[in-house]
Amino acid sequence: MLNRVRFFFSTVILGLCLAASTAWAQQPLPQSPQAHQAHQQAQHRWWKHAVIYEIYPRSFQDSNGDGVGDINGITSRLDYLRDLGIDAIWISPMYPSPLVDFGYDISDYTAIDPLYGTLADFDRLVSKAKARNIRVIMDFVPNHTSDQHPWFAESRSSRTNPKRDWYIWRDGNGMGQPPNNWQSWFGHSAWKFDPKTNQYYYHHFYTEQPDLNWRNPQVRKAMYDAMRFWLDRGVAGFRIDAVSRLFEDPNLHDDPILPGKNAYGDPNIVHKYTDNLPEVHEVLREMRKVANAYPGNPVLISEADEPNIAELTKMYGVKDDEIQLPMDFQVADVNKLSAPDFRRLLNEIDRNAAGGQPHYFFSNHDQPRQRDRYGDGMHNDQIAKLMAALLLTTRATPLMYYGEEIGMRTTEPARKEDVQDPIGKIGWPEEKGRDGERTPMQWDASTNAGFSIAQRPWLPVPPSTATYNVAAESQDPDSILSFYKRVLALRRSEPALRDGRYLPLNQEDPFVLAFLRKKAGKGDAILVVLNMSAEARTVKFDLAAHGFKQSSAKTLIAAPEIGPESTQLTHFTVPAFGVFIGSVH
Ligand code: GLC
Repeated sequence: MLNRVRFFFSTVILGLCLAASTAWAQQPLPQSPQAHQAHQQAQHRWWKHAVIYEIYPRSFQDSNGDGVGDINGITSRLDYLRDLGIDAIWISPMYPSPLVDFGYDISDYTAIDPLYGTLADFDRLVSKAKARNIRVIMDFVPNHTSDQHPWFAESRSSRTNPKRDWYIWRDGNGMGQPPNNWQSWFGHSAWKFDPKTNQYYYHHFYTEQPDLNWRNPQVRKAMYDAMRFWLDRGVAGFRIDAVSRLFEDPNLHDDPILPGKNAYGDPNIVHKYTDNLPEVHEVLREMRKVANAYPGNPVLISEADEPNIAELTKMYGVKDDEIQLPMDFQVADVNKLSAPDFRRLLNEIDRNAAGGQPHYFFSNHDQPRQRDRYGDGMHNDQIAKLMAALLLTTRATPLMYYGEEIGMRTTEPARKEDVQDPIGKIGWPEEKGRDGERTPMQWDASTNAGFSIAQRPWLPVPPSTATYNVAAESQDPDSILSFYKRVLALRRSEPALRDGRYLPLNQEDPFVLAFLRKKAGKGDAILVVLNMSAEARTVKFDLAAHGFKQSSAKTLIAAPEIGPESTQLTHFTVPAFGVFIGSVH
């Protein structure tokens, strides 16, 4: 979440696996018993091998010319996603919403906003995606609703309304003061006074996003029923929004204050009493039970900016009974090309005590694009390939963000009056909001980048479209897009990259991150060498301890290209920000 520089979820019985495979794939099953078993296994934990791709629906493809992307637009681009090598799409919210937070303020959890289409369009998307072996993951926003949700309208209508307790209502602290010092992530007090009943309600995000009271069992039931609604329609799981924020201290202790002020001019505080309360895990276990009752092994992905490996590990649950894929914000936000920093974090999560599957990403709709956080201004295209290799060759389920495969950059609004994202309006100019990372997908060099035929799309198309677009990059074998396609294809075809262990190499090297991916037993391993510095580096690999006697590695993918003389394991030279992916035996 919201961790931008600004901020920022068992055992499954065999019958369930069988149900999973028949329910999902509808493909002829492999005939030999071994192949059949392998197929079942793959279905069982499909999310372990999947490459997931986040689509911000407003910005992916507009099919009806209103300047805003929509469901039919996404459906029309499924072949692109299949050819790229994507296994699942997570779509940011498309529920009915007043769009204060562009969909993260939901006024109906079991419908589609007409702006994006209809439920029939959604069902068609799910079935067309399935025909291409692409699963659809919904965004689920449990922490808060829109203030326009009928539940909140009831809740605010009187202190005795049956839904009063569905939200967090408290008396003020006298003299027009809010109940305590809790702050919204989006600036200023987290309490909003409601004159009708003379009490304050709590909102962790915008005032238009009142927090649900997860201590109320009826709230839990309503939200789990909403999950079932979508699972019944064939979704493959949920990305659960802001999940660590579900509970607040019932005793309303003030949060500790730190020195200094934030971008909104508020005192810095530690969100000690509104984040990561232990009750969160009880809810995650209940959500996992809801998901587990369905065939196909639906996945739960958590958005939670966990501060360290101990907290991140808790997200998996003690008995693999919470989240399968907790997003790793630590890895996402290293924000500098540092081999030691990445090595330490990759090692930590690889050895997590829960034995959970790591889940990496570098970009999303909340933080400046990776190009702008990792690029050095001179080698940005090469660094884009380096980041792609880091994401796609490690032992994690990778999560991509639309446009990263073509090297899209953050394009912030130049003027306050152009800002769409309310946090940019509140925090301008220090906080310009998130429009910059939400600009339209750059399909080609035509008007509006092939995104929309509208006069004016909801956000402007960045100038970089002229050179960074799908059509142009598809023609260029050296493009960022071509590189992503090659690595994604390799990840699919090489069992060691899909399933192999992660074995870090040369752990003292300050510049070069190197590791093996290796399946148990004999056979080739994949050697990955990533030079995170602006100078060529010559390194030495001693792979004998890992059982490899060969003196050189065989190149599978290298960018830039390197000759065979560079791949001698005793004298291995990798260019500035270079990527080497090869095999050793
Ligand atoms: C999450 C979403 C973000 C949204 C916030 C409030 O962090 O990713 O876009 O503004 O939650 O729902």
